Amino acid sequence: MSPVNPTERLEELRRLIRYHEERYFVLDDPEVADVEFDALVKELRQLESQHPDLATPDSPTRRVGGRATAGFDTVEHAQPMLSLDNAYSEDELRAFDERVRKGLGTAESVVYIAELKIDGLSIALTYEDGMLTRGATRGDGVRGEDVTANVRTIKAIPLRLKEAEASAPPGQVEIRGEVYLPKRAFERINREREEAGEALFMNPRNAAAGAMRNLDPALVARRGLSAFTYQIVGGPAFADSRPEGRPPRTSSAETGLPHVGADLQVGPPSSHRETGPWVGPRTHAETLETLRAWGLPVEAHWRRCRGVEELLSCCREWEERRRTLEFGTDGIVIKLDDLALRDLLGTTSKFPRWAIAFKFPAEQQTTRLKAIEVNVGRTGAVTPFAVLEPVVIAGSTISMATLHNAEDLTRKDIREGDWVIVEKAGDVIPRVVGPVLSRRQDDSVPWTMPAACPRCGAALCREADEVVWRCENTSCPARLQRGLEHFASRSAMNIEGLGESLIAQLLAGNLVTDCAGLYDLGEEVLAGLTSTSARSDGKAISRRFGEKNAAKVVAQIERSKGNELWRLIHGLGIRHVGERGAQLLARAFGSMDDLCDATTAQLQTAHEIGPVLAASVRSWCDEPQNRQLIERLRAAGVRMAVPPEERAAMPAPGPLTGKTYVLTGTLASMTREDATAAVERLGGKVAGSVSRKTTGVIVGAEAGTKAAKAEQLGIPILDETAFRTLIEPGPDRAALP
Ligand code: IVH
Repeated sequence: MSPVNPTERLEELRRLIRYHEERYFVLDDPEVADVEFDALVKELRQLESQHPDLATPDSPTRRVGGRATAGFDTVEHAQPMLSLDNAYSEDELRAFDERVRKGLGTAESVVYIAELKIDGLSIALTYEDGMLTRGATRGDGVRGEDVTANVRTIKAIPLRLKEAEASAPPGQVEIRGEVYLPKRAFERINREREEAGEALFMNPRNAAAGAMRNLDPALVARRGLSAFTYQIVGGPAFADSRPEGRPPRTSSAETGLPHVGADLQVGPPSSHRETGPWVGPRTHAETLETLRAWGLPVEAHWRRCRGVEELLSCCREWEERRRTLEFGTDGIVIKLDDLALRDLLGTTSKFPRWAIAFKFPAEQQTTRLKAIEVNVGRTGAVTPFAVLEPVVIAGSTISMATLHNAEDLTRKDIREGDWVIVEKAGDVIPRVVGPVLSRRQDDSVPWTMPAACPRCGAALCREADEVVWRCENTSCPARLQRGLEHFASRSAMNIEGLGESLIAQLLAGNLVTDCAGLYDLGEEVLAGLTSTSARSDGKAISRRFGEKNAAKVVAQIERSKGNELWRLIHGLGIRHVGERGAQLLARAFGSMDDLCDATTAQLQTAHEIGPVLAASVRSWCDEPQNRQLIERLRAAGVRMAVPPEERAAMPAPGPLTGKTYVLTGTLASMTREDATAAVERLGGKVAGSVSRKTTGVIVGAEAGTKAAKAEQLGIPILDETAFRTLIEPGPDRAALP
């Protein structure tokens, strides 16, 4: 049990919640992640239920949340705009389903509609005689702000509803939904704000709320907001005069309740109903169809699920798939399909009992930045990284995160000891988004790049036009370590078993000083080193590397002598020479000697080799120390040339040589692998992400953000037909990018 005084804790919780509510709802500048905020509310609610005598009428648990801001007229909602309860785990979703079935008195599976939870802000749209007359934000749930002028600028929201034959809109109707900022508009706005030196929006929701709050509709129009709708609340004509306006329903003999499970599509579908006064939809699926028929935007991926298992598989599917969407989503909203059954369950003061939001694992968390340390790469580039108080994000424990470069760190003014927001999206390396300024300690000081390399003490240098600081000492142990790791890596000499820890020991014991030294290593030397592995409880255990492992590594080193020339060129770690650059050089020059003798001009005549790469190769080869290294490698027996027969077999430049494509979405006629192979066969490259250097983006079904990024950068987009023309022989290819 917690030793704190409940009265004090209650007060503290209420104060904290009010503070964070204001940051979130009013200032659009939250300081804590949603989960953290929800945890505070949960704790408050628990404490209040344990101590009912200490509950107060103004507690945040009694309100829907949020307040109105100055600048807009306040309007009252016909019905309160409720929020949704959250489920953070499969068990919590199962518990919700049980509550629903218990409430309905049924053991059978219930039909739900699963919708994507749009990361935006809720909006209530009033249509009178089919014309948009009002748009209001949620505000505190009872009263919101009249943002009609801004809503009118959102192209997705029709100013006039369509007259659908079977479901003509009634005299007055309120439609609810979500206004959101598409991902690409979010990125654009943040780029603009960054250039203007303004604080960045943390997520699309805040950016959308910020845009809606703008008092100048002309500016709002330029923000590129969009919307989806999902709810019809009645005007006097229908829906909320339920159940009177509805025909009687079939009910189950035993319970007297509407029959659940066997057929929830009570009554004929809307399109088959008799004409007469419109009674409104009876299921949520009908609601969504009606909204569509009226010309309103409805997010298309909603799904009808029978029972909790179908819901769970839908939630699991979208956890990854959501990344392909054009808008942000942080969960799945689950709603009971049958509207009459919803009435039976009713609502609490804050949430409907018939709906819940299943939240995807949080991708942002706040934690303490223990220290900022720097890492020295093999080219000497020094990059800062964050050492964090460990925190679980999206299911994995994060204790380190990137900070990009020193300039970025200074611009964001991230300091040691700060509370910071950390983000992890998918398989992307975790990064520090920014500091939580209100939690900064008074005695904190801005971070500065160390003047000297933390490993070798050499002064750090930065070239005038570069952002990167470097340690220029070529014998810096940190650089040697990374250089040897690179040499042994899979994309270079591919020496299995020669990992980080072994290399560190070899350097520490002065057993090697460069890559040529690896070829002198004997089994007995390696056998005496230690290998470290993690025990199941996380503790590290060290044991002697041993004869068997040593023999394996030595055999791998021996085998690497016969590697293709490009592997060696890549492994040497010449700046700007990546895997492909090394392949091009090997193909063009055929031997290490010819490569080393080539002038910058000759280097540039090689296909795809530009001035930067050529100059880098030249200056590397001009270093006597590097020439000696090559001689030592040669003496050790490492292959220095491409055998003539292999050189002849190397593919000649093709029609797509020099071009780079990005694939996104699913192609109907071939797999991603086949498409990649086809491009490469013709000399082209396939890259994973869109940049200004991309020649074209090949877009299949359900394409993700890459297509949007291409559009934004003005990069040509090829559909599947155009792509086939590109890879099939014929004259039309020439017309394509
Ligand atoms: S239904 C009474 N459906 O999430 C139920 N809400 O966290 C009203 N939201 O206030 C909400 N996507 O602003 C519903 N497909 C969706 C939604 C959605 C996003 C928002 C909405 C709500 C908030 C609750």
